Amino acid sequence: MFIRDFEIGDIDQIVEILRLNNQYDFPEVDGPEAMKRLKQCSAVVFLVCEIDNKVVGVVKGTYDGSRAMIHQLSVHPHYQRQGIGTALVKEIVKRFQRRGASTVSATVTEESLPFWQKAGFKKTKAFLVGNW
Ligand SMILES: CC(C)(COP(=O)(O)OP(=O)(O)OC[C@H]1O[C@@H](n2cnc3c(N)ncnc32)[C@H](O)[C@@H]1OP(=O)(O)O)[C@@H](O)C(=O)NCCC(=O)NCCS
Repeated sequence: MFIRDFEIGDIDQIVEILRLNNQYDFPEVDGPEAMKRLKQCSAVVFLVCEIDNKVVGVVKGTYDGSRAMIHQLSVHPHYQRQGIGTALVKEIVKRFQRRGASTVSATVTEESLPFWQKAGFKKTKAFLVGNW
């Protein structure tokens, strides 16, 4: 298992993982063009996990100089429950801490709560999302 920074050549494999996990409802937010923009943004940490030259997981988030937030985590269904999600979260938390973050938040689904709690996150107040 190898965790590294996202590269443009990873886009198709990431889209496939997001589709398989039903996390691709908003291509304008998560699709190829958005990924290319993220690559240019210095606040972003965008990592992939590779096994045998294949991208099997992705995590991305931002640190704005004050708050660090994980926006997306996805592991290919064939590779789940092998510690990849945990490894990706540990690495992005390490990257945020190196930049100066003292806490890390995550936007999560109800179903994935057991994973996040095992990874050391505690549930707090809910978020609202504008959809104009
Ligand atoms: C949630 C997700 C990222 C977890 O990744 P993963 O690589 O499978 O997780 P890990 O193997 O590191 O799991 C660590 C622990 O979390 C818990 N866990 C993980 N998936 C779980 C599940 N589906 N149900 C209950 N507990 C779970 C377990 O305690 C697990 O330890 P164990 O396997 O020793 O029992 C992955 O299932 C996924 O991509 N799901 C679809 C997309 C998604 O829900 N993303 C998160 C949205 S916020």
